[in-house]
Amino acid sequence: MDKPIVTRNLCKIYQEGRVEVTAVSSADLTLGEGEVVGLFGPSGSGKTTLLSILGCILRPTSGSLMLYGKEVSDMSEADLPFIRKKYISFIFQGFNLFPALTVHENVMLVLKLKGVKGEVAERRATELLTEVGLEERIDFLPRDLSGGQKQRVAVARALAADAPVILADEPTGNLDFSNGRKVMELLKNLAAERKRCVVVATHDNRIEDIFDRILFMEDGKIVREKRRSP
Ligand SMILES: Nc1ncnc2c1ncn2[C@@H]1O[C@H](COP(=O)(O)OP(=O)(O)O)[C@@H](O)[C@H]1O
Ligand SMILES: [Mg+2]
Repeated sequence: MDKPIVTRNLCKIYQEGRVEVTAVSSADLTLGEGEVVGLFGPSGSGKTTLLSILGCILRPTSGSLMLYGKEVSDMSEADLPFIRKKYISFIFQGFNLFPALTVHENVMLVLKLKGVKGEVAERRATELLTEVGLEERIDFLPRDLSGGQKQRVAVARALAADAPVILADEPTGNLDFSNGRKVMELLKNLAAERKRCVVVATHDNRIEDIFDRILFMEDGKIVREKRRSP
Protein backbone atom coordinates (compact mmCIF):
# COMPACT_ATOMS: atom_id res chain seq x y z
CA MET A 1 0.00 0.00 0.00
CA ASP A 2 1.42 3.39 -0.98
CA LYS A 3 1.99 5.81 1.87
CA PRO A 4 0.02 9.08 1.93
CA ILE A 5 3.19 11.17 1.90
CA VAL A 6 6.76 10.32 0.92
CA THR A 7 9.35 13.02 0.29
CA ARG A 8 12.95 12.68 -0.77
CA ASN A 9 15.51 15.43 -0.50
CA LEU A 10 12.81 18.09 -0.58
CA CYS A 11 14.18 21.65 -0.73
CA LYS A 12 12.68 25.11 -0.95
CA ILE A 13 14.77 28.19 -1.58
CA TYR A 14 13.09 31.60 -1.59
CA GLN A 15 14.71 34.27 -3.71
CA GLU A 16 14.58 37.62 -1.89
CA GLY A 17 16.15 40.00 -4.40
CA ARG A 18 19.74 38.79 -4.49
CA VAL A 19 19.49 36.90 -1.25
CA GLU A 20 18.52 33.24 -1.17
CA VAL A 21 16.70 31.90 1.87
CA THR A 22 16.76 28.15 2.28
CA ALA A 23 13.45 27.54 4.06
CA VAL A 24 13.40 23.73 3.72
CA SER A 25 16.52 21.70 3.25
CA SER A 26 16.74 17.99 2.27
CA ALA A 27 13.56 16.86 3.98
CA ASP A 28 13.03 13.08 3.88
CA LEU A 29 9.66 12.05 5.27
CA THR A 30 7.45 9.01 5.17
CA LEU A 31 4.02 9.57 6.71
CA GLY A 32 1.45 6.83 7.04
CA GLU A 33 -2.32 6.47 7.36
CA GLY A 34 -3.72 7.01 10.82
CA GLU A 35 -0.67 8.92 11.98
CA VAL A 36 -0.80 12.23 13.82
CA VAL A 37 2.50 13.93 13.20
CA GLY A 38 3.68 17.14 14.83
CA LEU A 39 6.07 19.46 13.06
CA PHE A 40 7.74 21.43 15.85
CA GLY A 41 10.29 24.21 15.64
CA PRO A 42 10.78 27.88 16.41
CA SER A 43 9.31 30.62 14.26
CA GLY A 44 11.16 30.81 10.94
CA SER A 45 12.34 27.18 11.02
CA GLY A 46 10.39 26.26 7.87
CA LYS A 47 7.25 24.60 9.22
CA THR A 48 4.74 26.57 7.11
CA THR A 49 6.88 26.21 4.01
CA LEU A 50 7.15 22.44 4.42
CA LEU A 51 3.42 22.12 5.14
CA SER A 52 2.59 24.26 2.08
CA ILE A 53 4.71 22.01 -0.12
CA LEU A 54 3.07 18.87 1.30
CA GLY A 55 -0.30 20.52 0.60
CA CYS A 56 0.66 21.37 -3.01
CA ILE A 57 0.16 25.08 -2.32
CA LEU A 58 3.83 25.72 -2.96
CA ARG A 59 6.12 23.87 -5.32
CA PRO A 60 9.50 22.67 -4.05
CA THR A 61 12.68 24.05 -5.59
CA SER A 62 13.97 20.48 -5.86
CA GLY A 63 13.34 17.00 -4.56
CA SER A 64 10.48 14.57 -4.74
CA LEU A 65 7.00 14.61 -3.20
CA MET A 66 4.81 11.56 -3.64
CA LEU A 67 1.18 11.45 -2.54
CA TYR A 68 -0.13 7.87 -2.47
CA GLY A 69 2.69 6.79 -4.76
CA LYS A 70 2.08 9.53 -7.30
CA GLU A 71 4.91 11.96 -8.00
CA VAL A 72 3.46 15.45 -7.73
CA SER A 73 6.54 17.69 -7.43
CA ASP A 74 6.94 17.91 -11.21
CA MET A 75 3.27 18.57 -11.98
CA SER A 76 2.26 21.72 -13.76
CA GLU A 77 0.72 24.62 -11.86
CA ALA A 78 -2.54 23.87 -13.69
CA ASP A 79 -2.76 20.33 -12.28
CA LEU A 80 -2.16 21.25 -8.66
CA PRO A 81 -5.71 22.37 -7.76
CA PHE A 82 -6.96 18.95 -8.85
CA ILE A 83 -4.36 17.19 -6.71
CA ARG A 84 -5.20 19.41 -3.73
CA LYS A 85 -8.90 18.74 -4.06
CA LYS A 86 -8.37 15.00 -4.22
CA TYR A 87 -5.91 14.58 -1.37
CA ILE A 88 -5.65 17.62 0.91
CA SER A 89 -7.60 19.50 3.58
CA PHE A 90 -5.98 22.54 5.17
CA ILE A 91 -6.71 24.07 8.57
CA PHE A 92 -5.22 27.49 9.30
CA GLN A 93 -4.44 29.38 12.47
CA GLY A 94 -6.70 32.21 11.26
CA PHE A 95 -9.64 29.77 10.67
CA ASN A 96 -10.34 31.11 7.12
CA LEU A 97 -14.12 31.06 7.51
CA PHE A 98 -16.33 33.16 5.24
CA PRO A 99 -17.55 35.96 7.54
CA ALA A 100 -20.86 36.56 5.75
CA LEU A 101 -21.87 32.90 5.80
CA THR A 102 -23.32 31.07 8.80
CA VAL A 103 -21.49 28.16 10.37
CA HIS A 104 -23.80 25.77 8.50
CA GLU A 105 -23.27 27.58 5.20
CA ASN A 106 -19.50 27.53 5.67
CA VAL A 107 -19.60 23.75 5.85
CA MET A 108 -22.21 23.46 3.06
CA LEU A 109 -19.93 25.38 0.74
CA VAL A 110 -17.26 22.69 0.97
CA LEU A 111 -19.83 19.95 0.39
CA LYS A 112 -21.20 21.78 -2.66
CA LEU A 113 -17.70 22.10 -4.11
CA LYS A 114 -17.51 18.34 -3.82
CA GLY A 115 -20.78 17.98 -5.73
CA VAL A 116 -22.98 17.05 -2.74
CA LYS A 117 -26.35 18.69 -3.33
CA GLY A 118 -29.54 19.93 -1.70
CA GLU A 119 -30.94 18.20 1.33
CA VAL A 120 -28.18 15.63 1.45
CA ALA A 121 -25.64 18.44 1.84
CA GLU A 122 -27.81 20.18 4.44
CA ARG A 123 -28.11 17.04 6.54
CA ARG A 124 -24.44 16.16 6.17
CA ALA A 125 -23.36 19.66 7.27
CA THR A 126 -25.56 19.37 10.36
CA GLU A 127 -24.12 15.93 11.16
CA LEU A 128 -20.54 17.16 10.85
CA LEU A 129 -21.20 20.19 13.03
CA THR A 130 -22.81 17.90 15.60
CA GLU A 131 -19.69 15.75 15.50
CA VAL A 132 -17.53 18.73 16.51
CA GLY A 133 -20.03 19.78 19.20
CA LEU A 134 -21.52 22.82 17.47
CA GLU A 135 -25.07 21.64 16.82
CA GLU A 136 -26.48 24.56 18.80
CA ARG A 137 -24.50 27.13 16.85
CA ILE A 138 -25.15 26.17 13.24
CA ASP A 139 -27.00 29.38 12.38
CA PHE A 140 -24.45 31.70 13.99
CA LEU A 141 -22.09 33.87 12.00
CA PRO A 142 -18.37 33.28 12.60
CA ARG A 143 -18.05 36.62 14.42
CA ASP A 144 -20.42 35.36 17.11
CA LEU A 145 -18.23 32.34 17.91
CA SER A 146 -15.24 31.99 20.21
CA GLY A 147 -11.84 31.11 18.73
CA GLY A 148 -12.22 27.49 19.78
CA GLN A 149 -15.64 27.25 18.16
CA LYS A 150 -14.34 28.81 14.93
CA GLN A 151 -11.53 26.30 14.80
CA ARG A 152 -14.05 23.50 15.29
CA VAL A 153 -15.97 24.83 12.25
CA ALA A 154 -12.67 24.63 10.36
CA VAL A 155 -12.33 21.00 11.49
CA ALA A 156 -15.92 20.31 10.34
CA ARG A 157 -14.98 21.76 6.95
CA ALA A 158 -11.96 19.48 6.79
CA LEU A 159 -14.30 16.58 7.58
CA ALA A 160 -16.64 17.77 4.82
CA ALA A 161 -13.80 17.87 2.32
CA ASP A 162 -13.18 14.24 3.29
CA ALA A 163 -9.60 14.32 2.03
CA PRO A 164 -7.16 11.63 3.18
CA VAL A 165 -4.43 14.09 4.20
CA ILE A 166 -5.19 16.83 6.74
CA LEU A 167 -2.63 19.58 7.20
CA ALA A 168 -2.99 22.13 9.98
CA ASP A 169 -0.79 25.19 10.45
CA GLU A 170 -0.69 26.36 14.09
CA PRO A 171 -4.33 25.30 14.62
CA THR A 172 -4.17 25.98 18.35
CA GLY A 173 -2.19 29.21 18.02
CA ASN A 174 -5.19 31.43 18.82
CA LEU A 175 -6.82 29.10 21.32
CA ASP A 176 -6.68 28.68 25.07
CA PHE A 177 -5.51 25.41 26.59
CA SER A 178 -8.81 23.58 26.80
CA ASN A 179 -10.07 24.63 23.35
CA GLY A 180 -6.70 23.78 21.86
CA ARG A 181 -6.90 20.29 23.28
CA LYS A 182 -10.47 19.82 22.06
CA VAL A 183 -9.43 20.66 18.52
CA MET A 184 -6.40 18.39 18.70
CA GLU A 185 -8.47 15.53 20.07
CA LEU A 186 -10.90 15.88 17.15
CA LEU A 187 -7.97 15.64 14.75
CA LYS A 188 -6.56 12.67 16.62
CA ASN A 189 -9.87 10.81 16.47
CA LEU A 190 -10.09 11.56 12.78
CA ALA A 191 -6.70 9.95 12.22
CA ALA A 192 -7.57 6.93 14.32
CA GLU A 193 -11.12 6.28 13.14
CA ARG A 194 -10.92 7.30 9.51
CA LYS A 195 -7.26 6.48 8.93
CA ARG A 196 -6.42 10.03 7.93
CA CYS A 197 -2.85 11.25 7.81
CA VAL A 198 -2.73 14.38 9.99
CA VAL A 199 0.25 16.74 10.02
CA VAL A 200 0.23 19.69 12.42
CA ALA A 201 2.81 22.49 12.36
CA THR A 202 3.02 24.06 15.78
CA HIS A 203 5.23 25.42 18.48
CA ASP A 204 2.61 24.78 21.14
CA ASN A 205 4.35 22.54 23.69
CA ARG A 206 1.07 22.08 25.57
CA ILE A 207 -0.16 19.64 22.91
CA GLU A 208 3.05 17.61 22.54
CA ASP A 209 1.56 14.51 24.15
CA ILE A 210 -1.15 14.23 21.45
CA PHE A 211 1.25 13.21 18.69
CA ASP A 212 2.33 9.74 17.60
CA ARG A 213 5.45 11.25 16.13
CA ILE A 214 7.16 14.61 16.41
CA LEU A 215 9.61 16.00 13.89
CA PHE A 216 11.71 18.89 15.13
CA MET A 217 12.79 21.53 12.61
CA GLU A 218 15.66 23.99 12.88
CA ASP A 219 16.77 26.31 10.09
CA GLY A 220 14.85 24.36 7.47
CA LYS A 221 16.16 20.95 8.51
CA ILE A 222 14.45 18.11 10.30
CA VAL A 223 17.02 17.64 13.03
CA ARG A 224 15.36 15.13 15.31
CA GLU A 225 12.42 12.77 15.57
CA LYS A 226 10.56 11.52 18.61
CA ARG A 227 8.10 8.62 18.53
CA ARG A 228 5.58 7.79 21.18
CA SER A 229 6.74 4.65 22.91
CA PRO A 230 4.23 1.87 22.21
N1 LIG B 1 7.35 34.05 0.71
C1 LIG B 1 8.57 34.10 1.27
N2 LIG B 1 9.59 34.76 0.66
C2 LIG B 1 10.81 34.79 1.20
N3 LIG B 1 11.17 34.19 2.35
C3 LIG B 1 10.20 33.51 3.01
C4 LIG B 1 8.86 33.43 2.51
N4 LIG B 1 8.11 32.69 3.37
C5 LIG B 1 8.95 32.33 4.36
N5 LIG B 1 10.19 32.82 4.14
C6 LIG B 1 11.39 32.58 4.99
O1 LIG B 1 11.60 31.17 5.06
C7 LIG B 1 11.96 30.78 6.37
C8 LIG B 1 10.95 29.76 6.91
O2 LIG B 1 9.70 30.41 7.10
P1 LIG B 1 8.36 29.63 7.49
O3 LIG B 1 8.22 28.43 6.63
O4 LIG B 1 7.27 30.61 7.51
O5 LIG B 1 8.72 29.13 8.99
P2 LIG B 1 7.77 28.84 10.26
O6 LIG B 1 6.42 28.45 9.75
O7 LIG B 1 8.48 27.73 10.98
O8 LIG B 1 7.74 30.08 11.06
C9 LIG B 1 12.05 32.06 7.20
O9 LIG B 1 13.40 32.49 7.17
C10 LIG B 1 11.16 33.01 6.43
O10 LIG B 1 11.58 34.35 6.62
MG1 LIG C 1 4.52 29.22 10.21
